[in-house]
Amino acid sequence: MAESLSIVSGTKTEQYQQLLPQIKALVEGETNRTANLANTTAALKMAFDFFWVGFYTVEDNQLLLGPFQGPIACTRIAKGKGVCGAAWERNETLVVPDVDAFPGHIACSSDSRSEIVVPITKNGTVVAVLDVDSNQLNDFDQTDADYLTELCQWLGTHCF
Ligand code: SME
Repeated sequence: MAESLSIVSGTKTEQYQQLLPQIKALVEGETNRTANLANTTAALKMAFDFFWVGFYTVEDNQLLLGPFQGPIACTRIAKGKGVCGAAWERNETLVVPDVDAFPGHIACSSDSRSEIVVPITKNGTVVAVLDVDSNQLNDFDQTDADYLTELCQWLGTHCF
């Protein structure tokens, strides 16, 4: 297993295209879910320096905080609550350009300005979400949605 990451500059698309195969290679060499989700958050943080990036996993019909990089965060989120709970309930990737304009947004950090949440499914059921926060407004676009959704689909079959 490669324990270093090759971080490239270039367009966001180029960065994702270089990064995703490296994350997949890392994950394929390890069977433990916590280790794999932890390294995935670290790789995303290293590549994009996201303000907050982490996973919430579905446990006892709630979202429970999992591996993440960034400031401390709320530990449990109910279905339908916040951006994470909404993405879980709808089984849909949500791009939120301005968190203050999202009804029910949960402010784990007052510095968070925009957010993307991507569900992870196993056999059609949401088992976790990937949450990425930015301290800039409107920081996520369709490119992030496309590549992070691809990553999460892959994680759903390889980590859960
Ligand atoms: N803002 C999220 C809560 C999680 S933190 O951002 C890490 C939400 O509204 O669901």
